[in-house]
Amino acid sequence: MNAQQIRNAYLKFFEDRGHAVIKRAPLVLKDDPTTLFTGSGMQPIIPYLLGEIHPAGNRLVDSQTCLRAQDIDDIGDNRHTTFFEMLGNWSMGDYFKKEQIEWMWEFLTEVVQLDPSKLYVTCYIGDDRYGIPKDTEAAEVWKRLFDSKGLSSGEADIGSEEAGYIRGIKEGERIFYYDGSKNWWSRNGAPENTPVGDPCGPDSEMFYDFGTPHDPSFGEHCHPNCDCGRFMEIGNNVFMAYRKVGDGKFEPLEKLNIDHGSGLERIAAAKLNDPDVFKISIMWPIIEKLQALSGKKYESHTNAMRVIADHLRAATFLAVDGCVPSNKEQGYVMRRLLRRAIRFAFELGIEQNFLEEVVPTIADMYHDDFPEVAEKREDVIAVLVKEEKTFRQTLRKGLQIFEKKMAGFSTPTTFPIEWGEGKMSGTDIFQLYDTYGFPVELSVEEAYKRGIDLGNWQEEFDAKMKEQRERSQTAAKGTFKGGLGGQTLQHKKYHTATHLMYQALRDVLGDHVVQRGSNITEERLRFDFSHPEKVTREQLDKVEEIVNREIAKDLKVSFAEYPTEEATGKLGALGQFGDRYGDTVKVYKMIADGEEKPYSFEICGGPHVDHTLQLFEDGKKFKIIKEEASSAGIRRIKAVLV
Ligand code: ALA
Repeated sequence: MNAQQIRNAYLKFFEDRGHAVIKRAPLVLKDDPTTLFTGSGMQPIIPYLLGEIHPAGNRLVDSQTCLRAQDIDDIGDNRHTTFFEMLGNWSMGDYFKKEQIEWMWEFLTEVVQLDPSKLYVTCYIGDDRYGIPKDTEAAEVWKRLFDSKGLSSGEADIGSEEAGYIRGIKEGERIFYYDGSKNWWSRNGAPENTPVGDPCGPDSEMFYDFGTPHDPSFGEHCHPNCDCGRFMEIGNNVFMAYRKVGDGKFEPLEKLNIDHGSGLERIAAAKLNDPDVFKISIMWPIIEKLQALSGKKYESHTNAMRVIADHLRAATFLAVDGCVPSNKEQGYVMRRLLRRAIRFAFELGIEQNFLEEVVPTIADMYHDDFPEVAEKREDVIAVLVKEEKTFRQTLRKGLQIFEKKMAGFSTPTTFPIEWGEGKMSGTDIFQLYDTYGFPVELSVEEAYKRGIDLGNWQEEFDAKMKEQRERSQTAAKGTFKGGLGGQTLQHKKYHTATHLMYQALRDVLGDHVVQRGSNITEERLRFDFSHPEKVTREQLDKVEEIVNREIAKDLKVSFAEYPTEEATGKLGALGQFGDRYGDTVKVYKMIADGEEKPYSFEICGGPHVDHTLQLFEDGKKFKIIKEEASSAGIRRIKAVLV
């Protein structure tokens, strides 16, 4: 069974069980201003899960195209993609746990014929604070099904990632209980993050065991939710029985609902028993095309080919759904996806008519099952090809000039204080942008790739931009609204938040915490630091609390230049591990009115906001959304202002 067949078999399976097959919603949801894109199958179904009557009835099934654009920069491993299809079935006050679990089991083991001995499941461990019990009911059903095949069906409590995972799996165990960070579903995850008013509930996830050896850099123990790649989540059964009505308060919904979502691409990978989702039938033809066009092999150009395949599937469906590349919102994401794909194609040596060649391959993979793809085929190709033409000229010129400028650096450094003649600065980035249309983010990305932090480029860039605007009052007006303009301030906010968090981490965990890397996008900050073990949820809560407390004090942000020795010595400014500094350094300080000691005092090129309350604009708060291993002894945190 290939991916297309799995999709159709799923729709048919649930149709045979009384479900109405509904059409996927577009990637851009017109009446949902809360998100840019459809990110899960249930999003368009929310009103019905909350009680509204769906005209097609109370049993629905579909395959929903989804786009998760938060992690564009992280694409390249064997299983994460921005675009994917979520196979979804729903019961609105009709069947519940038992039927759902039994049907999924039948679908996976009998229809798709996955080897049942490779399936593992998880259930919700319960939480007294919310009065929500341990889900032994779901576990019982699973146990019976595993037993029916003569498989071991041992149960174990794993608990919480934040608590450091008490243990790994043991021989004979197959059913695992986790807390709300893993086995609670809402659009924002855990009970505490569930948006008030939203439907939510405990869930039961299904995993496929690829049997690969555990990689200890992801933690000491392996278990279904470990990210080492042995286990891959293939689907989730949400027992949507609650609505959040306030902080820590959940009310049972009048009717019990099922919200099921499976990753089509992942089930297809499990069917091939190969953890690489790029090998499946709605991916591999793209890779084959890229191999043919470039004369290069997937094995030696894996990352570039994965990025291209992922981004172009996304861009194609965005175009099908009426989105066009622009500098705003969804159009901006689409432009980014396309331009990244084109740039990676450039790396493969594909310089001509790239999209014209590849997009038809993508359209072919989908046109039988999604008639709108066939219908809009020519328009889609035209929209994408047009963007390629403009961008290609820009890119070629820009990259040449960029390389010339970069030639000035022989030793990569992460902390440039002053760029001399011929080196990279905000003015250079501005010129590349202004004269050649070379995208700012690409300059920044190319610099990061070479291990070069651009210091205070943005301040200089902004100043140049302003100058230029004043000069030619009409031309540049509004170009960046919602796009880069927003990103610039957002960038500064995340940069400031990074400093506060760095200090807070040291306060909570100790002085061994040293910065090992940092990356900021308009959507989040990412921070790598030395720490020998997992940071517990309690510790993360403390860090969050401290950062929010300091922001609320409206610290004033300013900088001064010091001799390096004085800054790192007597003054105790924080820096980054392994950085080589010049004779003098710029140090940013964040201090509350009337206090003597700054909360944060850190060597940095900037830029930052002027005062910290800017971070709370629009009612936002600082929140840590992810903590994980980055490499041995290095942890990685992602945090957002939401
Ligand atoms: N809505 C659930 C999910 O996205 C099924 O995992």
